[in-house]
Amino acid sequence: MIGAQWGDEGKGKITDLLSKSADVVVRYQGGVNAGHTVVVQGQTFKLHLIPSGILYPETDCIIGAGTVIDPKELIAELDRLEALNISASRLMISESAHVTMPYHRLIDQASEERRGNRKIGTTRRGIGPTYADKSERTGIRMTNLMSSETLQEQLNWAIEQKNVVLDKLYDLPPLDPKQVIEEYRAYAERLAPHVTDTSLRIYEAFRAKRNILFEGAQGTLLDLDHGTYPYVTSSNPVAGGACIGSGVGPTMIDRVIGVAKAYTTRVGEGPFPTELKGGVGAELCDRGAEFGTTTGRQRRCGWFDGVIGRYAVRINGLDCLAITKLDVLDSLDEIKVCVAYDLDGQKCHDLPGDSSQFARCTPIYETLPGWKQSTDHCRSLEDLPQQALDYLKFLADLMEVPIAIVSLGASRDQTIIVEDPIHGPKRALLTDKLSIEPART
Ligand code: IMP
Repeated sequence: MIGAQWGDEGKGKITDLLSKSADVVVRYQGGVNAGHTVVVQGQTFKLHLIPSGILYPETDCIIGAGTVIDPKELIAELDRLEALNISASRLMISESAHVTMPYHRLIDQASEERRGNRKIGTTRRGIGPTYADKSERTGIRMTNLMSSETLQEQLNWAIEQKNVVLDKLYDLPPLDPKQVIEEYRAYAERLAPHVTDTSLRIYEAFRAKRNILFEGAQGTLLDLDHGTYPYVTSSNPVAGGACIGSGVGPTMIDRVIGVAKAYTTRVGEGPFPTELKGGVGAELCDRGAEFGTTTGRQRRCGWFDGVIGRYAVRINGLDCLAITKLDVLDSLDEIKVCVAYDLDGQKCHDLPGDSSQFARCTPIYETLPGWKQSTDHCRSLEDLPQQALDYLKFLADLMEVPIAIVSLGASRDQTIIVEDPIHGPKRALLTDKLSIEPART
């Protein structure tokens, strides 16, 4: 299950729904930059690193090798769950995942300041610098954290290097290696029971024919390779990232489910063709409570972008979509959908690879009538007003992918399951059945 836009698509709720049918849930990329909000029986859970499967007592949860782990934040998350009497004993953490250190956070924050109007708008959680050290082969992995001697040796060396950067580049005071080593040794002790070879654990589950859900964080357009670079995160949220970040082969994945909001949001900097400033944008932000789970930042809001939607279908090989927050559109007189871009006077149906071209794209809209009534009580397609159904059909036809789930509110029960997303037919077999019809409920 992946995000089909710029993140914040409501994946927390959908992964929570899908987790019910999963024996194992795996996070495969990103770190505490992610934030999943799940509401169960009126109680709100905010998860950053731990898969939402943890809310089901039987589900094994895995944080894979492709993630980056801030142990302090992870332990705080474990503490919050334990305070709510939710056991985290089924949590497994990859020994190969890289560890976010205090210097990563400091460098992320300082480099964002330094960039001025070139800033990315990161979550300032040290994500980019942790992945940079991984690529540079100077990172510290969970397995290194577990060995007191290795940790000491690696951290002494790393902090010596980073202190030069902190001082010379950012004019910041040096870190004390002794203090950091002591702090991280305590984290290691707490996390040690969870650290294991997670790729092997996933393979064992696969051989035992257990259902495995790979839970993407962020979204397709934030992908380091396939997103709107440079305004992206430093990992691979696309479906292909699940293989690399978990250590499984592509043949082990049966289907790919994309999650998209009924409109579009984006946090941080970068072009956003369908953005609405003020007016309807402010209404969407207000009704959709569009504030980041991790940073509390207000999200930028705009109309649904079908060019991006089709791109997400292609890049991820989506079998079906979950459309979230349809109820946020309830009060609108009319709703626009971007069906193509105008790029320097040419109609363009595909996302341009060049970021300066993307920045020049303006949306070409089709306008659909609104339904002007509340939908948050609807539990089947038949309950929806005709205009809402027409809107969903329009999106499915535009993206040439069936809609399997429609979400109309934060609670588990505010959901329409159009088609079983796990056992339903695959998209490849659905060439004559792309639209959703009430008859298929
Ligand atoms: P970073 O991942 O903190 O380096 O931030 C890079 C970009 O990704 C920024 O535009 C962030 O706002 C965005 N980003 C990172 N994580 C999330 C997320 O979970 N939801 C939405 N945007 C995110």
